[in-house]
Amino acid sequence: MALIPFDDRDGYIWLDGKMVNWREAKVHILSHGLHYASSVFEGERIYDDQIFKSREHAKRLINSANILGMEIPFSVDEIEDAKREVLEANKLSNGYVRPVAWRGAEQMGISASGTKTHVAIAAWEWGSYYDAEKHEKGITLKTSPWHKPPPDCAPTQSKAGCLYAIGTMSKHAAEDAGYDDALMLDYRGYVAEASSANLFVIRDGVLQTPPPDCFLNGITRQTVIQMAKDLGIPFEEVHIKPEELQNVQEVFLTGTAAELTAVGNIEDLDFTVGPITRQLRDAYGALARTKNTESAIITGT
Ligand SMILES: Cc1ncc(COP(=O)(O)O)c(C=O)c1O
Repeated sequence: MALIPFDDRDGYIWLDGKMVNWREAKVHILSHGLHYASSVFEGERIYDDQIFKSREHAKRLINSANILGMEIPFSVDEIEDAKREVLEANKLSNGYVRPVAWRGAEQMGISASGTKTHVAIAAWEWGSYYDAEKHEKGITLKTSPWHKPPPDCAPTQSKAGCLYAIGTMSKHAAEDAGYDDALMLDYRGYVAEASSANLFVIRDGVLQTPPPDCFLNGITRQTVIQMAKDLGIPFEEVHIKPEELQNVQEVFLTGTAAELTAVGNIEDLDFTVGPITRQLRDAYGALARTKNTESAIITGT
């Protein structure tokens, strides 16, 4: 089935405080955000009428913008109200929400002090991020030629559009070689994450994940760590060298889009979709559909 282009759909998008027809939600070609990647965004999932960790995402959007020196002209409560309006206008009970903020066309050039920060929120129906048939075998990853930059070379704690250039190139390189996604190493050569999801391994019964010191400390990542602690699963945050992947039994990814996805293979290494991955995947699926699960987790502020 051909994908319907995203600018040619029915529905409504919230743009700078007003609901507009989907096809009319446009930006000018000379927008600063388009030329210089001065944009930040969120990805959120709606489960049975409720956006999972909605306030956490609204806070992260504002924080991501602040890291780039952009000020979002809406409060967390206003963003929350706008998201609810978008869900109602589009009659969505399950799907994906995409808030985005960018510097406008008020000024052109590297300096952006005269620009305004614009905000839009769109939402649409969306199923599994990876093919559903991969659920039981796990997805495949190929190591990317691109490394995550150090925190003094890029705004690594912001969900900023500029960081996704290497994500897209990494994902393309993996897909072109027949893999589902990329394994990205960091600037030191440690295992970092996939192109748009954090990575966990299980080594001899211990759940391990790298410290998020040069990539996004995902809201799903934080949720899964808390779940593991609540379930009594031994956990440690530790740097992982690529060669250490030979000694792990299970690997999985976490992210709003990816949810909790098992990894079955990284090039010449195969992994089982084992008991800890299954337990956490089931627990995450149940938690995401539980009403009022907002919690006070910290999101890299
Ligand atoms: C690069 C990257 N890492 C990690 C994540 C996971 O973040 P979260 O769990 O907050 O969706 C995402 C998705 O937002 C991402 O794009």
